[in-house]
Amino acid sequence: MIGPTLQHLRSGTTKGVEDVGDVEISRGASQDDSHISSRIPWNRANTVTVYTRLSSTLQDFSFSRAMQNKISFRGLTLESRKPVFFDVLNNLWDPESNPDGIVNIGLAENGLMQAEMRSFINAQPGADNHALTYGDGFTGSKKLKAAMCHFLNRHFQPYVPLNPSHMCITSGASNALENCAWALCDPGDYVLVGRPYWTTFQSIFGNRAGVNILEVAMGAVDPMSVDAVARFEEAAEQARREDKRVKAILLCSPNNPLGRCYPEDALKGYMRLCQKLGIHLISDELYGLSVWENPDSNDPTQFRSVLSIDSQKLVDPQLVHAVWGMSKASGP
Ligand SMILES: Cc1ncc(COP(=O)(O)O)c(C=O)c1O
Repeated sequence: MIGPTLQHLRSGTTKGVEDVGDVEISRGASQDDSHISSRIPWNRANTVTVYTRLSSTLQDFSFSRAMQNKISFRGLTLESRKPVFFDVLNNLWDPESNPDGIVNIGLAENGLMQAEMRSFINAQPGADNHALTYGDGFTGSKKLKAAMCHFLNRHFQPYVPLNPSHMCITSGASNALENCAWALCDPGDYVLVGRPYWTTFQSIFGNRAGVNILEVAMGAVDPMSVDAVARFEEAAEQARREDKRVKAILLCSPNNPLGRCYPEDALKGYMRLCQKLGIHLISDELYGLSVWENPDSNDPTQFRSVLSIDSQKLVDPQLVHAVWGMSKASGP
């Protein structure tokens, strides 16, 4: 079971939007030219800065007109949806330096292990030359993949042990999910997600890949139970009648925001359904190592990765994708 830090998470934190497209426009003040700089953080690790020099005649144009000439409408649309979350980050409470700031309880950060993580990181030998090259390609270095396989084989107990060829490393779980959107879906496709859900999935799948989230209402059914699978099948059938192309079911286990895990029969039910419909099963297991006994909960379901299920008779393994990242268990 997963404990209180997950349970108090707000559904709908806006972090995914930060990851996939904050656009800041600032105007330079040199004598002859204006400078418009568009900072487009594609994710936390890669910030692309584009500087465009404008001729002095453009100074007469309104600023918004210049913006429209120089960045995409997609960028402008995202700018207008800039979440309040950024204002919170810019004004974080600190007892000494910012006592009037905001205490942020809308972000699932693991502050408990910071001292341990810092001393572990500082105790590691420095980077070798290989780390300063393009390395082994764009899906993660061999060394990192080997270490991740070793780690996940121990903690997630996959039925088929993971090897590096099963794995793509990305900068954060949001990025991995967005890669699923790009790889498995086309713009305009739909991904089924049971309610309630972490609404940032909408921006992760939608902002750039153009993939829609199709919410599955649970009514009186427990969203984590095997009975919920039937609701997904009904939703897929309804989507088919409406000519909506459903490409995947997205699970979140342990679940944000419910803080509960799917039992084995439900996971198997989703696998069977995905096989029947010929669609993918994406399992966001980011909180898989943030679980513990909770004596106050009456749901004893332990976390179980989709990878740990013997799925041979249930689903084509090529349809199953698990996402895990270090941002919750070890700090971002
Ligand atoms: C369920 C879920 N998936 C994915 C993410 C994004 O993870 P990351 O910060 O590693 O991109 C979060 C972050 O809060 C999350 O709650």
